[in-house]
Formats: sequence, C-alpha cells, structure tokens
Amino acid sequence: MAKREEWSSRQGFILATIGSAVGLGNIWRFSYVTGENGGAAFLLAYLFFVAIVGLPIVIAELAIGRRGQGDATSAFISIAPRSGWAAPGLIGVAASFLVLTFYAVISGWALKYFAGAGTGVLWQAASADAGGYFQRFVANPGEPIIWQATVLAVTMLVVVGGVQRGIERLNRILMPALALIMAGLAVYSLLQAGSSKGVAFLFTPRWELLLRPDIYLAAMGQAFFSLGVGMAVFITYGSYLPKSFRLPTMAIMIIAGDILIAILAGLLIFPAVFAHGLDPKAGAELVFITLPQIFLAMPAGKIVGTIFFGLLVAAAVTSMVSLLEVPVAYLMHRFGLRRWPATVWTGAIAFLLGLPSAMSYGLLKNIKWRDHQILDNVDYVVSNFFLPTGAIMIALFVGWRWNRPDAIAQANLGDGITANLWIWSLRVGAPVLMAVVLARSFFA
Ligand code: TRP
Repeated sequence: MAKREEWSSRQGFILATIGSAVGLGNIWRFSYVTGENGGAAFLLAYLFFVAIVGLPIVIAELAIGRRGQGDATSAFISIAPRSGWAAPGLIGVAASFLVLTFYAVISGWALKYFAGAGTGVLWQAASADAGGYFQRFVANPGEPIIWQATVLAVTMLVVVGGVQRGIERLNRILMPALALIMAGLAVYSLLQAGSSKGVAFLFTPRWELLLRPDIYLAAMGQAFFSLGVGMAVFITYGSYLPKSFRLPTMAIMIIAGDILIAILAGLLIFPAVFAHGLDPKAGAELVFITLPQIFLAMPAGKIVGTIFFGLLVAAAVTSMVSLLEVPVAYLMHRFGLRRWPATVWTGAIAFLLGLPSAMSYGLLKNIKWRDHQILDNVDYVVSNFFLPTGAIMIALFVGWRWNRPDAIAQANLGDGITANLWIWSLRVGAPVLMAVVLARSFFA
C-alpha cells in the first residue's frame, strides 16, 4: 500500500475543502442554472437543498472518510466489512472523474478569458461583440481543447506534488480575495442603472414556479454540484482529518462559504444581465458573455476583470484538484500505484473523455438532447442523477448500516437532539426527499 499524504495543518483541511466546494459551480453554473430556472423561486429551492439536505450529508461523508482512513471505497468497507457497500464509493470515484472531464473544459474557458484579459485581446474583442467573441472561441475546432489541456496539466502538476502546502497556502489568500472582489463587483453591479430588475429576478419569487418539479431537480443538482457532495470528495478529504476537529462546524463553514459566493455571483451577474438587455436563459455561456461587458463599462474594469478571471481560474483549479484527487487516491490505495503514474493516467484519460465536451459547441454542436449540447447534458445527467444517487446511498449507509453510537461519535454530535435529527434525516428525511424529486422528474 502506498504511503498516504498528509495535510500540513487543520486549517489546511478547511481551506482545501472550501477550495473544493467553491468553484465554477458557484459562479458559472449557479448563474446559468438560476437564469434558466426563473430566478428567485429557484434560489429558494437551492438554499433549501444546500442547507437542509446538504448539511447532514456533508457531515456523513466527512465522518465516513475520517473513520475509514483510506480511499473512497475502503472507507465503506472498513465500516461494513465484506459487504457490497464499496459500490457507493466506486460510483463516487467514477462520477467525480466524469465531472472532471467537463469541468476541465469550462475551466479552460476561464483560463482563456484570464489570458485574454491580461493581454487586452479580450477587451478589444468584447467591446465590439462579446457574444460573438465567445461563440467564435467555442466554435473553433482546436482552441478550447488547448485550454482544456492546459488547465488539466496545471491540476496534474498540483496533484503530483501532493495536495499540500502549495494549495493550502494558495487557498488561504485566494478564497478571501475571491469573496472580497465578488462583493465589490456585486456592489458595483447593483449601482448601475436598471439593476433593480436583476435584483427582483433573484429575490422576488414567482411562486407558481415552485409547482414545477423540474425546479426541484435542478435545485438539488445545483446544490450537490456546488457543494461537491455525493461523489466521495469529502470522504477522501475527510480521511486526512485529525480526530480533534469537529465535523459539524466544518460542514457549516463549507455550506456558508458556498452559499455566500453563489449569492454574490448572482448579485453581480443578474443586475448586469438585465441592465445590458441580455437573456438570463442564455445557458452555459451566460457568465462569459455578461462579465466582460460589466468590466468594460466600469472604471479600471480591465484590471479588476483580469484579477477576477485569475481568481476564477484559481477557484476552478482548487476544485479540479479535489476531483482528480479522488480517483488518484483510489488508484494509489487500492492498486498500490505511485502518485505520479496514478495522476498522469487519470489526467490523460480525463482529457480524452472530455474531448466531446470541449467540441460540443464547435464540431459537435449539432449533437443535441433536450435542446442542449453535449457538455450541458453530461453536466445535467451527472449533477441531477449521479450526485443525488450517491448522496442517497451515503445517507442510507450512515443512517441504517453504520452502528449508531459509532456514527454519532465520529460525527462529533453528542447523543442529544442534534444527533437524533442527524440520524433521522439520513435514515428517512433526506433519502425520501431526494427519491421523490428524482422520481417526479422521471414521471412528470
Ligand atoms: N463544488 C465545485 C464547484 O462548485 C465542483 C466540485 C468539486 C464537485 N468537487 C466535486 C462537483 C464533486 C461534484 C462533485 O465548482
């Protein structure tokens, strides 16, 4: 068995875990999915799933991981020996790998925008036609692939080096910087003429939308994607956690950070979308077309914009690191591979499997399902079906299979009312809710 890596400090865990949770999901995905699903009503459903359903599951994943002290599959087996319970871990490994394939493509877009912002190419092109600039970029047969490969290579370098001091230190500076810049930009965006429509879109629910089952499916998928639950990331990261750290506190911090960045992104993007007369339903390209226009319109916008895209890339990479770390840890722990071959193989295959996503707005743009291209659909299926399925299995496992005193002790919950709430939300509340949402979307 290969020697396991260690984080340098407790703070390092928290930062790395928040680094994993906060990423493109909070900015790029949150804004486009919220736009497609009608705004405020969707936001409410998303908050419900993040805070109420997500919380017990994040705690459960961390507890499984810390108890298991291994990779995503062995963690289950160490709690329930000789059972088929490795399956949720395996699904997690496979699915975080799938997320990585398309996540690398979008991260590549962000890197391209960062580079373009730094050199000034972006501003020139976007002042003429921001939408056209983006469309030409993604339609190009080769360019998105080059950026996708570049981001993956950077992520692989970090993971080969062992996810430790570098990324911890990086996160310590980058995550607060990201939050600050986002807050500043949101304020700026709110001060623009016409911003109130965007605020209303985000905060005044059209209640009738809550009658549509697809809102809940989308909200659940978004909540799970942006937290990164259901996929063994927290199990893997949790395996490096010291005993002394209280999991509920950590889970709450992750969730608060995740919500904060998402709402700031919404406050930044929707006022601008409406102020510029753009369509909130634009889909995956929303952020890439609106943001350059906001930056162009603001004083010192080119500098702020360059910093912003730089932070976006950094946030994306810290999430990619977690996605890559799951299969790498699995290969190392189960098959005794060393870190670098495990990383190189996983990264290379993720690159190849990501090619259809990278080409989905270019050569393959006519391949559609649900009126969306390949990348959107990989995202849709993984987020809305794989993540909840993984989360259901994890909830049932901890609720019913794990012996209760051990589970509660591992989760640092004491044996009071909170422990009961936690156990019963895992036994019944969360799985039933998730199952109903999934079932309704199949039979609606
Ligand atoms: N949560 C990250 C984001 O919001 C992406 C991510 C990291 C993720 N790890 C994950 C998504 C595991 C699903 C599963 O960008």
